[in-house]
Amino acid sequence: MALRSLLTRKTLTLGGNPQFIALGLRGLKTFTLPDLPYDYGALEPAISGEIMQLHHQKHHQTYITNYNKALEQLDQAMNKGDASTVVKLQSAIKFNGGGHVNHSIFWNNLAPIHEGGGEPPKGSLGWAIDTHFGSMEALIQKMNAEGAALQGSGWVWLGLDKEFKKLVVETTANQDPLVTKGTSLVPLLGIDVWEHAYYLQYKNVRPDYLKNIWKVLNWKYASEVYEKECP
Ligand SMILES: [Fe+2]
Repeated sequence: MALRSLLTRKTLTLGGNPQFIALGLRGLKTFTLPDLPYDYGALEPAISGEIMQLHHQKHHQTYITNYNKALEQLDQAMNKGDASTVVKLQSAIKFNGGGHVNHSIFWNNLAPIHEGGGEPPKGSLGWAIDTHFGSMEALIQKMNAEGAALQGSGWVWLGLDKEFKKLVVETTANQDPLVTKGTSLVPLLGIDVWEHAYYLQYKNVRPDYLKNIWKVLNWKYASEVYEKECP
């Protein structure tokens, strides 16, 4: 009963977000696919338009579809007091909900070159990177090495540890969001290293994808998050 009240209260607070659609009388919200802030082909040649379209329309949409389905099943199970099903649904909620959360960040982490993609951060984030990693080049090398070494599918992140006010590089497996590595971690940049993010263009050469993605990374977005979270 406590879980049910908590979920209802939490979802109701998200009512202003256009990505949510009310479902049923209890105020449970489902998700819809967010628009990309640029055209599918706008990141070429670093990332092909074909990859971007499939990644957004098929992969991200599938996470949302399955997350919504799991939420509806959770709603029904809670109404019935079916604890076994509530527990059973947790892994689907984590995987598909994480897929939605991570990809929503990822689209904002990218920008066409003519809109500032690849331009290094100015201001406080640039200083913080030099302080914590030595230089931007050292950070890129570290993230590329950890992203290339990640076994299977997952993400490599530049995050802010709000508690210690320091930058960190972390990897997460599958669709685990960065917060699963620490509750005080805020994602600034997340690079998707699932094969679906690069295989059509780069085949099995993940390091080449990692090398080129920096040409279209949106440091303006990362700087805005950093300055908001670490004023
Ligand atoms: Fe992906």
